[in-house]
Amino acid sequence: MNKPGPTNQSTIDLLLTRRSVLAKDMIPPGPSDEELQTILRCGLRVPDHSRAEAWRIQVLDKAAQEALGDFCAELFQREHPEANEVLVEVERQRSQRSPTFLVVTFHVNEQKLKKIPEVEQLLSCAALCQNILVATTAMGYRGQWLTDWPAYHPEVIRYLGHGKGTQIVAFIHIGSVATPPNERPRPEFDNIVSEWRPRD
Ligand SMILES: Cc1cc2nc3c(=O)[nH]c(=O)nc-3n(C[C@H](O)[C@H](O)[C@H](O)COP(=O)(O)O)c2cc1C
Repeated sequence: MNKPGPTNQSTIDLLLTRRSVLAKDMIPPGPSDEELQTILRCGLRVPDHSRAEAWRIQVLDKAAQEALGDFCAELFQREHPEANEVLVEVERQRSQRSPTFLVVTFHVNEQKLKKIPEVEQLLSCAALCQNILVATTAMGYRGQWLTDWPAYHPEVIRYLGHGKGTQIVAFIHIGSVATPPNERPRPEFDNIVSEWRPRD
C-alpha cells in the first residue's frame, strides 16, 4: 500500500532544527502584514476538539508595545518601590524587544465544557502557539515564546482588555537576528520515548 503523501523534507528539517531566539537579540525586519497573516492562519489551523476556539491572538504594533511597556514599568515600580531605574527600564522594554509582538490568551469555552475538558481547550491553545512558532521559522523569521510575571498579573490582563477568566498563555516575539543561535541540549530520545506492550 502507498502512503498517503510524499515526505516533505523541508518541513521535517525545519522541525528538527527549529530554535528559539532570545527576544532581546531580535532586530528588524519582522514579517510584513501579509506574512504575519499567513503565520497567524497557520496558528488557527490547530487541532481543536469540537471547535472550542478558546484562544485569541492580539497583534501589538510599535505604539501598542510602547504603551504596554510603559504600563508594565509603572506597575513594576509601584509594586517594587526599591527597584532602581535600570530594572524599571528592563520592564519598560520587555514588550518592545522585537519587531512583531503577539499576545495569545485563553478563555475556556464554557458551552463546550461538558464535552471538552478545560485541559484539552488549553492544550489546543498551546498547539496554536507552537504552530505560530513553526510558521514563523518557515517564513524565515525567528520567534520566542515568553511569559514571565506580566503574563500572570491581573492588571496586565485587564490593561490588555480582558475580563476575569482570561489567561495570557504566551507573549510571542517575532523578528530577525544578526547571528543564528547556538544549539541547546535536547532531550535524550530514549529517556522520553519507549515502546509499550501489554504484559503476557
Ligand atoms: C509556556 C512557555 C513559557 C515560556 N516562558 C519563558 C520565559 O518567560 N522566559 C524564558 O526565558 N523562556 C521561556 N520559555 C522558553 C522559550 O520559549 C524557549 O523554549 C527557550 O528559549 C528554548 O528555546 P527552544 O525553543 O529553541 O528550545 C517558555 C516556554 C513556554 C512553552
